[in-house]
Amino acid sequence: MAKLSFHHNDGNVDVLDVDTGASVMRAAVTNGVPGIVGECGGNAMCATCHVYVREPYLASLPEISDDEEEMLDCTAAPRDEARSRLGCQLVLDNGLAELEVDVPDNQV
Ligand code: FES
Repeated sequence: MAKLSFHHNDGNVDVLDVDTGASVMRAAVTNGVPGIVGECGGNAMCATCHVYVREPYLASLPEISDDEEEMLDCTAAPRDEARSRLGCQLVLDNGLAELEVDVPDNQV
């Protein structure tokens, strides 16, 4: 299991215990977390799963692929060069057993 926290702009926080192997996007959509759409189903083709990763988790993240890099330039909310990632490309596994993200104001 992994612990995943979504911080919303209104101050609410959704904290989930998710199965290892789930992506941030899939965990959010499955559990009804607001603000994460996941329109393309996790194929790095829509950018509606944009999240801002909190410190100190940035150092634990996988590298950004070319596809993710391209989509991060298409997010509805401004991209943060240091913190923006696609939730569908972040998989909770043994190297990333805990993660906290901020949910953007809008995704579309
Ligand atoms: S779900 Fe579409 S880019 Fe992540």
